[in-house]
Amino acid sequence: MSLLEVEGVTRSFGGNRAVDNVSFDMAVDTLAIVGPNGAGKTTLLNLIAGSLHPQAGSIRFNGQEITSLPPWRIARLGMVKTYQVVRPFRTLTVEENLALFSKKRGAANIGWILEVAGLTEVRGHLAGALPFGLLKRLELAKGLAVQPDLLLLDEPIGGLSRAEAQGLVASLTALKSSGVRMVVVEHRLSEILPVVDRVVALDRGRLIFHGTREEFFQDPAVRTAYLGSADAAG
Ligand SMILES: Nc1ncnc2c1ncn2[C@@H]1O[C@H](COP(=O)(O)OP(=O)(O)OP(=O)(O)O)[C@@H](O)[C@H]1O
Ligand SMILES: [Mg+2]
Repeated sequence: MSLLEVEGVTRSFGGNRAVDNVSFDMAVDTLAIVGPNGAGKTTLLNLIAGSLHPQAGSIRFNGQEITSLPPWRIARLGMVKTYQVVRPFRTLTVEENLALFSKKRGAANIGWILEVAGLTEVRGHLAGALPFGLLKRLELAKGLAVQPDLLLLDEPIGGLSRAEAQGLVASLTALKSSGVRMVVVEHRLSEILPVVDRVVALDRGRLIFHGTREEFFQDPAVRTAYLGSADAAG
């Protein structure tokens, strides 16, 4: 059984089909959703997480129909999303932020999350005082605190320097090794693709490719629609 099944999902804003009849399923550890600006990546992630609902199509998670469920119900079923724009509780410490989201109150779990997200040293710092690079790490850690079966990440390395991005990708690689399954929306292909098993590519709302990372670079539609665009190298 697939972990995630997306079937014929469509969502328009006015006359603009942000996500247009998209279907794919996911049985692997890590899936990347890629595509140029405005391709519909965030909209698709919102549809999967339940923060938006499709006008057509259906979504199943672990075999269960989740198409019209609200995000908190989907989170209880084991799927949560982090945000492209970071939003911590700025007057709480890093550790307090995680405790708020933590499913189990166990300190061991939070200790592990701080470690894997690279936040152990700043666990006592106020979130509002963290530099952007560490806020991106906190956003990842908040998602992990819920102990999801599937973690949806919207541009986890967006806005980071190359060195910061490398550190975060190392965290994602460690998470993958410890069995955390992820869907990652990202622009920076050369940095993110080493972590992923399969790729879904969108262009103007349509799915133009679904396959392995190796097939991705060979695909003619991808080369025309995406690799030809300015951001191809990340
Ligand atoms: N809430 C909204 N209201 C109206 N239009 C929207 C809304 N959200 C997205 N859109 C439009 O839908 C299309 C897809 O947007 P989306 O944010 O999903 O793209 P994206 O692939 O995440 O882009 P980016 O790489 O810039 O984050 C765009 O044309 C966008 O303007
Ligand atoms: Mg987006």
